[in-house]
Amino acid sequence: MKVAITGKGGVGKTTVAASLAHCWRDMGYRVIAVDADPDANLAGTLGYRGPDITPLSGLKELIEERVGGGQGWGGFLKMNPRVDDIPDRFGIDVDGIRILVMGTIDRGRKGCACPENVLLREVLNHLILSQHERVIVDMEAGIEHLGRGTAEGVDAMLVVVEPGWASLQTAKRTASLATDLGIKRIDAIGNKVTGDDALAFIRSHLGAISLLGALPFDAGVEEDARSGRIGVDRAFYREMARIADALKEPEHRDTSKNLV
Ligand SMILES: Nc1ncnc2c1ncn2[C@@H]1O[C@H](COP(=O)(O)OP(=O)(O)OP(=O)(O)O)[C@@H](O)[C@H]1O
Ligand SMILES: [Mg+2]
Repeated sequence: MKVAITGKGGVGKTTVAASLAHCWRDMGYRVIAVDADPDANLAGTLGYRGPDITPLSGLKELIEERVGGGQGWGGFLKMNPRVDDIPDRFGIDVDGIRILVMGTIDRGRKGCACPENVLLREVLNHLILSQHERVIVDMEAGIEHLGRGTAEGVDAMLVVVEPGWASLQTAKRTASLATDLGIKRIDAIGNKVTGDDALAFIRSHLGAISLLGALPFDAGVEEDARSGRIGVDRAFYREMARIADALKEPEHRDTSKNLV
């Protein structure tokens, strides 16, 4: 299963992606955590404190070897390059989670066949997963970048929302676009939920999008991100574990009725 985590800026996408990665790892899955945000910080949130990671988009020799394109990108491109070895060769392992940093996809040529895009798209779409593997893609904020490349690559899209108008508007726009793109499963995860009123607000503004769970606001989560130490005993991670378990099912349903 491959899931993409989307939502408005700052709602907690990276926090959710990192803690979902932890939960699935603890459940025995091999987890590949893909940072698809050009302003990458998933590895740091997962506790990585080493030197800067070169993103895949910056591995020019690899791109040339696999996709070709030579001078500029006007040359001949191999559209189905081999990518199955990329997570092992170019990912880094942090506490048993494989992290892949995608880097910047050239917006100006979005959708066109420039070599970086071909490689990144293929990596997302053609990671062949065994039953015990899970891919989590931490996306850039907003919806502008959501395109066919993402849609073909994921089984489900999880939209993170917080109890405020703006993130719920973004969620509805994201869901509508994702549906147009053919993504079959779109669910919401509430984050920074401060109580019953906040949860009720989220529910009443989600429309038809089902709510998988509600993660509480907890200043300790921010401290965990700073120290790179996630998964300690907090209500936040317990709720995340429940969501991860619900997502385990091939056809997960709305489990939010079990909340509160
Ligand atoms: N449940 C929570 N309680 C308290 N703080 C939280 C919670 N979830 C996330 N945060 C904090 O909110 C901030 C934004 O979180 P995060 O970076 O995960 O958001 P994002 O959606 O990935 O942001 P961006 O759009 O910049 O990628 C971080 O400082 C994070 O620690
Ligand atoms: Mg983020």
